Amino acid sequence: MDILTSPAEMHAWINALSPQKSIGFVPTMGALHAGHEALLQQSRDENDVTVLSIFVNPTQFNVTADFDAYPRTNERDVRIADHHGVDAVYMPSTESMYPNGSRVFVEPGSASDPMEGAGRPGHFRGVTTVVSKLFHAVQPHRAYFGKKDYQQLAVVKQMVAELDFNIEIVGVDTIRHDDGLAMSSRNVRLSPEQRAAAPVIYRALLAARQAVAEGKHDVRVLEELVAEQIQAEPLCTVEYVSVVRRSDLSSISTLAEESVVCVAAWFGDVRLIDNVELTTTN
Ligand code: PAJ
Repeated sequence: MDILTSPAEMHAWINALSPQKSIGFVPTMGALHAGHEALLQQSRDENDVTVLSIFVNPTQFNVTADFDAYPRTNERDVRIADHHGVDAVYMPSTESMYPNGSRVFVEPGSASDPMEGAGRPGHFRGVTTVVSKLFHAVQPHRAYFGKKDYQQLAVVKQMVAELDFNIEIVGVDTIRHDDGLAMSSRNVRLSPEQRAAAPVIYRALLAARQAVAEGKHDVRVLEELVAEQIQAEPLCTVEYVSVVRRSDLSSISTLAEESVVCVAAWFGDVRLIDNVELTTTN
């Protein structure tokens, strides 16, 4: 397994590959867990070569303290990558990524407007910019993103479609702990009490799915049901509950054929997000 630490090194590595080889790419910020491993596994299954990137991207953190607190476990991550048969780990330094600071940006489309975009100004612009840079360095045929970050997946799909990137974006189902909590690098920051209470989010999302199955299709009613269930947990504060169209995350008043219910909620100073897809036939 090779480790590349600058865009120039990454280019040289990719250029030395046979053009016949299909390249799968898994962009991450490290602190790898079973969710990331599922992306790596799918890339391995579907491509000749798999590249993993690990880069804690400063331009997508709108709160500096969150960037500073982000877990960094590079040695362990490299071992996990090796174990999964990754061919190259791209770990660029911040200096090699942003030698001139940030002067050019990729502006995200309408999918970035609601939810995370509204609560975290500049976040998705940082994501679309760094993902473009990573795509240019790695030049993959397919790139793997988790549905855990549903809006990020939609924003990246919109960018790739509208800016003519020749890359297939693959969405991978959310990996969860046994009690339903979605795997996240931020979970380690929960206290034992908060960790024990956190599965309330997924339970509330499943209650929405159940309500849909029972014929409740009014979006406001579904959002309130989820918010009330989560709010019943005293350790948790809901930031938003939104039922939106899956494709572009636009708002709807009654359930579309393909919708998704998304939540952001706080346990102390730890912000968690989760979602489940809803269909009128489930
Ligand atoms: P990061 O938070 O490290 O996530 C990397 C990828 O892992 C994302 O596509 C995310 O959706 C996926 N992922 C995280 N938890 C998951 C889970 N429980 N199940 C399935 N997939 C999961 O997302 C980023 O990094 C960054 O924004 C990045 C795209 C790398 C740009 O900097």
